[in-house]
Amino acid sequence: MHIPSRTILVTGANKGIGFEVARQLATRKHNVVLTGRDSAKGKDAVDRLKDEGLDVHFLLLDVTDEASIKQGAKEVKEQFDKVDVLINNAAVLLREDQSLSGGSTEVFHKTMRTNVFGPVLMIRHFLSLIPDGGRIINTSSGGGSMSDPVGGWSPVYCVSKSALNAATRHLAYELAGQNIFVNAYCPGWVSTDMGGKSAPRTVEQGADTAVWLATAAISETGKFFRDRKVIPW
Ligand SMILES: NC(=O)c1ccc[n+]([C@@H]2O[C@H](COP(=O)([O-])OP(=O)(O)OC[C@H]3O[C@@H](n4cnc5c(N)ncnc54)[C@H](OP(=O)(O)O)[C@@H]3O)[C@@H](O)[C@H]2O)c1
Repeated sequence: MHIPSRTILVTGANKGIGFEVARQLATRKHNVVLTGRDSAKGKDAVDRLKDEGLDVHFLLLDVTDEASIKQGAKEVKEQFDKVDVLINNAAVLLREDQSLSGGSTEVFHKTMRTNVFGPVLMIRHFLSLIPDGGRIINTSSGGGSMSDPVGGWSPVYCVSKSALNAATRHLAYELAGQNIFVNAYCPGWVSTDMGGKSAPRTVEQGADTAVWLATAAISETGKFFRDRKVIPW
Protein backbone atom coordinates (compact mmCIF):
# COMPACT_ATOMS: atom_id res chain seq x y z
CA MET A 1 0.00 0.00 0.00
CA HIS A 2 1.34 3.47 -0.83
CA ILE A 3 1.39 5.78 2.18
CA PRO A 4 1.61 9.45 1.18
CA SER A 5 4.45 11.50 2.65
CA ARG A 6 3.64 12.95 6.05
CA THR A 7 5.07 15.89 7.97
CA ILE A 8 6.49 14.37 11.15
CA LEU A 9 8.08 16.31 14.01
CA VAL A 10 10.42 14.60 16.49
CA THR A 11 11.55 16.35 19.69
CA GLY A 12 15.07 15.87 21.06
CA ALA A 13 16.17 14.31 17.78
CA ASN A 14 19.79 15.50 17.58
CA LYS A 15 21.01 12.18 18.99
CA GLY A 16 19.98 8.78 20.33
CA ILE A 17 16.62 7.18 19.56
CA GLY A 18 15.07 10.45 18.33
CA PHE A 19 17.82 10.87 15.74
CA GLU A 20 17.33 7.30 14.54
CA VAL A 21 13.54 7.79 14.35
CA ALA A 22 14.15 10.90 12.22
CA ARG A 23 16.63 8.99 10.04
CA GLN A 24 14.26 6.07 9.40
CA LEU A 25 11.33 8.38 8.62
CA ALA A 26 13.43 10.50 6.25
CA THR A 27 14.59 7.30 4.54
CA ARG A 28 10.90 6.55 3.92
CA LYS A 29 10.58 10.00 2.26
CA HIS A 30 8.54 11.67 4.96
CA ASN A 31 8.95 15.39 5.59
CA VAL A 32 10.85 15.27 8.90
CA VAL A 33 11.26 18.17 11.30
CA LEU A 34 14.15 17.28 13.61
CA THR A 35 14.03 19.43 16.74
CA GLY A 36 16.61 20.08 19.43
CA ARG A 37 17.47 22.64 22.08
CA ASP A 38 20.96 23.41 20.75
CA SER A 39 21.51 24.89 17.27
CA ALA A 40 25.05 23.53 16.83
CA LYS A 41 24.04 19.97 17.80
CA GLY A 42 20.95 20.24 15.59
CA LYS A 43 22.96 21.42 12.61
CA ASP A 44 25.46 18.63 13.14
CA ALA A 45 22.61 16.06 13.20
CA VAL A 46 21.12 17.47 9.99
CA ASP A 47 24.57 17.39 8.33
CA ARG A 48 25.07 13.74 9.34
CA LEU A 49 21.77 12.87 7.67
CA LYS A 50 22.68 14.96 4.60
CA ASP A 51 25.85 12.87 4.29
CA GLU A 52 23.53 9.86 3.97
CA GLY A 53 21.56 11.63 1.24
CA LEU A 54 18.64 12.49 3.56
CA ASP A 55 16.97 15.87 3.75
CA VAL A 56 15.42 16.93 7.09
CA HIS A 57 14.53 20.33 8.55
CA PHE A 58 15.98 21.55 11.83
CA LEU A 59 13.86 23.48 14.34
CA LEU A 60 15.32 24.94 17.53
CA LEU A 61 12.98 23.93 20.34
CA ASP A 62 13.48 23.47 24.07
CA VAL A 63 10.57 21.44 25.47
CA THR A 64 11.00 23.02 28.92
CA ASP A 65 10.48 26.52 27.53
CA GLU A 66 6.87 27.32 26.61
CA ALA A 67 7.89 30.40 24.59
CA SER A 68 10.23 28.21 22.53
CA ILE A 69 7.43 25.67 21.93
CA LYS A 70 5.04 28.47 20.85
CA GLN A 71 7.66 29.93 18.52
CA GLY A 72 8.33 26.45 17.09
CA ALA A 73 4.63 25.91 16.38
CA LYS A 74 4.46 29.31 14.65
CA GLU A 75 7.43 28.47 12.42
CA VAL A 76 6.07 25.04 11.52
CA LYS A 77 2.67 26.58 10.70
CA GLU A 78 4.35 29.10 8.37
CA GLN A 79 6.62 26.55 6.70
CA PHE A 80 4.52 23.37 6.52
CA ASP A 81 1.00 24.35 7.67
CA LYS A 82 0.50 21.04 9.55
CA VAL A 83 2.09 18.26 11.57
CA ASP A 84 0.60 14.86 10.71
CA VAL A 85 2.57 13.10 13.44
CA LEU A 86 4.06 14.58 16.60
CA ILE A 87 6.64 12.36 18.29
CA ASN A 88 7.45 13.46 21.84
CA ASN A 89 10.88 11.92 22.33
CA ALA A 90 12.96 14.45 24.32
CA ALA A 91 13.55 13.45 27.94
CA VAL A 92 16.14 13.48 30.68
CA LEU A 93 17.34 10.82 33.09
CA LEU A 94 19.46 12.63 35.65
CA ARG A 95 22.35 10.90 37.46
CA GLU A 96 21.30 12.44 40.77
CA ASP A 97 17.90 10.72 40.51
CA GLN A 98 18.30 8.32 43.47
CA SER A 99 15.32 8.90 45.73
CA LEU A 100 11.80 10.24 45.55
CA SER A 101 11.45 10.71 49.31
CA GLY A 102 14.76 12.47 49.83
CA GLY A 103 16.30 13.55 46.54
CA SER A 104 16.95 17.07 45.26
CA THR A 105 13.89 19.16 44.48
CA GLU A 106 15.63 20.52 41.39
CA VAL A 107 16.05 16.99 39.95
CA PHE A 108 12.35 16.36 40.54
CA HIS A 109 11.32 19.64 38.89
CA LYS A 110 13.68 19.32 35.93
CA THR A 111 12.65 15.74 35.24
CA MET A 112 8.93 16.48 35.41
CA ARG A 113 9.34 19.72 33.40
CA THR A 114 11.13 17.88 30.59
CA ASN A 115 9.45 14.46 30.58
CA VAL A 116 5.84 15.37 31.45
CA PHE A 117 5.09 19.09 31.08
CA GLY A 118 7.22 19.17 27.89
CA PRO A 119 5.16 16.62 25.94
CA VAL A 120 1.84 18.01 27.22
CA LEU A 121 2.80 21.59 26.30
CA MET A 122 3.99 20.36 22.89
CA ILE A 123 0.56 18.83 22.34
CA ARG A 124 -1.26 21.95 23.53
CA HIS A 125 0.66 24.28 21.22
CA PHE A 126 0.88 22.00 18.16
CA LEU A 127 -2.66 20.63 18.38
CA SER A 128 -4.16 23.12 15.96
CA LEU A 129 -1.63 21.92 13.33
CA ILE A 130 -2.53 18.22 13.71
CA PRO A 131 -5.19 17.25 11.17
CA ASP A 132 -8.02 14.72 11.34
CA GLY A 133 -6.33 11.29 11.34
CA GLY A 134 -3.14 12.74 12.88
CA ARG A 135 -1.05 10.94 15.47
CA ILE A 136 0.73 11.74 18.69
CA ILE A 137 3.39 9.34 19.94
CA ASN A 138 4.77 9.72 23.46
CA THR A 139 8.09 8.04 24.16
CA SER A 140 7.67 6.34 27.49
CA SER A 141 9.53 3.60 29.32
CA GLY A 142 8.89 0.27 30.99
CA GLY A 143 10.18 2.14 34.07
CA GLY A 144 6.84 3.97 34.12
CA SER A 145 4.82 0.74 34.15
CA MET A 146 2.20 0.40 36.89
CA SER A 147 2.14 -3.40 36.36
CA ASP A 148 5.84 -4.29 36.69
CA PRO A 149 7.37 -4.51 40.17
CA VAL A 150 9.14 -1.43 41.52
CA GLY A 151 12.92 -1.96 41.73
CA GLY A 152 14.23 1.32 43.14
CA TRP A 153 15.97 2.43 39.93
CA SER A 154 15.71 6.17 39.04
CA PRO A 155 12.40 6.73 40.87
CA VAL A 156 11.82 10.30 39.67
CA TYR A 157 12.32 9.31 36.04
CA CYS A 158 9.98 6.31 36.52
CA VAL A 159 7.29 8.53 38.06
CA SER A 160 7.67 10.98 35.17
CA LYS A 161 7.03 8.18 32.67
CA SER A 162 4.02 6.91 34.70
CA ALA A 163 2.65 10.44 34.52
CA LEU A 164 3.30 10.57 30.78
CA ASN A 165 1.43 7.27 30.40
CA ALA A 166 -1.52 8.68 32.37
CA ALA A 167 -1.47 11.82 30.21
CA THR A 168 -1.45 9.63 27.08
CA ARG A 169 -4.68 7.89 28.15
CA HIS A 170 -6.46 11.12 29.00
CA LEU A 171 -5.32 12.85 25.81
CA ALA A 172 -6.43 9.87 23.73
CA TYR A 173 -9.88 10.25 25.26
CA GLU A 174 -9.97 14.03 24.82
CA LEU A 175 -8.77 13.94 21.21
CA ALA A 176 -10.82 10.97 19.99
CA GLY A 177 -13.53 13.39 18.80
CA GLN A 178 -10.97 15.05 16.52
CA ASN A 179 -9.88 11.64 15.24
CA ILE A 180 -6.34 12.11 16.57
CA PHE A 181 -4.66 8.93 17.81
CA VAL A 182 -2.51 9.21 20.93
CA ASN A 183 -0.26 6.34 22.03
CA ALA A 184 2.81 5.73 24.15
CA TYR A 185 5.63 3.30 23.47
CA CYS A 186 8.66 1.89 25.25
CA PRO A 187 11.77 1.52 23.06
CA GLY A 188 13.29 -1.10 25.40
CA TRP A 189 16.74 -0.70 26.95
CA VAL A 190 18.72 0.97 24.18
CA SER A 191 22.41 1.83 23.88
CA THR A 192 22.42 5.67 23.84
CA ASP A 193 23.86 8.36 26.11
CA MET A 194 20.82 7.79 28.32
CA GLY A 195 20.71 3.99 28.13
CA GLY A 196 24.48 3.51 28.49
CA LYS A 197 26.85 1.17 26.72
CA SER A 198 25.64 -2.06 28.41
CA ALA A 199 22.16 -1.72 26.92
CA PRO A 200 21.35 -4.72 24.70
CA ARG A 201 19.30 -2.91 22.06
CA THR A 202 20.49 -0.84 19.13
CA VAL A 203 18.95 2.52 18.25
CA GLU A 204 17.51 0.84 15.14
CA GLN A 205 15.60 -1.60 17.37
CA GLY A 206 14.61 1.18 19.78
CA ALA A 207 13.24 3.40 17.01
CA ASP A 208 11.25 0.67 15.25
CA THR A 209 7.96 0.92 17.18
CA ALA A 210 7.87 4.73 16.91
CA VAL A 211 8.36 4.55 13.15
CA TRP A 212 5.69 1.86 12.91
CA LEU A 213 3.21 3.89 15.03
CA ALA A 214 3.91 6.92 12.84
CA THR A 215 3.47 5.20 9.49
CA ALA A 216 1.50 1.93 9.68
CA ALA A 217 -2.20 1.73 8.87
CA ILE A 218 -3.35 1.43 12.48
CA SER A 219 -6.20 3.07 14.35
CA GLU A 220 -5.24 2.22 17.93
CA THR A 221 -5.42 5.00 20.49
CA GLY A 222 -4.80 5.26 24.23
CA LYS A 223 -2.47 2.26 24.21
CA PHE A 224 1.06 1.45 25.40
CA PHE A 225 3.32 -0.43 22.95
CA ARG A 226 6.63 -2.23 22.88
CA ASP A 227 7.94 -4.11 19.84
CA ARG A 228 4.75 -3.22 17.94
CA LYS A 229 2.57 -5.00 20.54
CA VAL A 230 0.23 -3.58 23.15
CA ILE A 231 1.64 -3.99 26.68
CA PRO A 232 -0.08 -3.36 30.03
CA TRP A 233 0.15 0.12 31.55
N1 LIG B 1 17.77 4.61 26.02
C1 LIG B 1 16.93 3.82 26.68
O1 LIG B 1 17.28 2.69 27.11
C2 LIG B 1 15.50 4.24 26.87
C3 LIG B 1 14.63 3.32 27.50
C4 LIG B 1 13.29 3.67 27.67
C5 LIG B 1 12.84 4.91 27.22
N2 LIG B 1 13.72 5.78 26.63
C6 LIG B 1 13.19 7.07 26.17
O2 LIG B 1 13.54 7.27 24.82
C7 LIG B 1 13.66 8.68 24.54
C8 LIG B 1 15.01 8.97 23.90
O3 LIG B 1 16.03 8.54 24.79
P1 LIG B 1 17.55 8.35 24.35
O4 LIG B 1 18.03 7.11 24.98
O5 LIG B 1 17.71 8.57 22.90
O6 LIG B 1 18.21 9.56 25.17
P2 LIG B 1 19.43 10.56 24.82
O7 LIG B 1 20.40 9.90 23.93
O8 LIG B 1 19.87 11.10 26.14
O9 LIG B 1 18.69 11.71 23.98
C9 LIG B 1 17.75 12.54 24.62
C10 LIG B 1 17.40 13.67 23.68
O10 LIG B 1 16.47 14.54 24.36
C11 LIG B 1 16.96 15.86 24.22
N3 LIG B 1 16.48 16.75 25.28
C12 LIG B 1 16.64 16.66 26.61
N4 LIG B 1 16.08 17.72 27.22
C13 LIG B 1 15.55 18.49 26.24
C14 LIG B 1 14.86 19.72 26.22
N5 LIG B 1 14.60 20.41 27.35
N6 LIG B 1 14.42 20.21 25.03
C15 LIG B 1 14.69 19.55 23.88
N7 LIG B 1 15.37 18.41 23.82
C16 LIG B 1 15.80 17.89 25.00
C17 LIG B 1 18.48 15.72 24.24
O11 LIG B 1 19.09 16.91 23.75
P3 LIG B 1 20.61 17.33 24.18
O12 LIG B 1 21.53 16.57 23.26
O13 LIG B 1 20.61 18.80 23.94
O14 LIG B 1 20.79 16.94 25.61
C18 LIG B 1 18.61 14.53 23.29
O15 LIG B 1 18.48 14.94 21.96
C19 LIG B 1 13.45 9.38 25.90
O16 LIG B 1 12.11 9.76 26.02
C20 LIG B 1 13.76 8.29 26.91
O17 LIG B 1 13.15 8.51 28.15
C21 LIG B 1 15.03 5.49 26.45
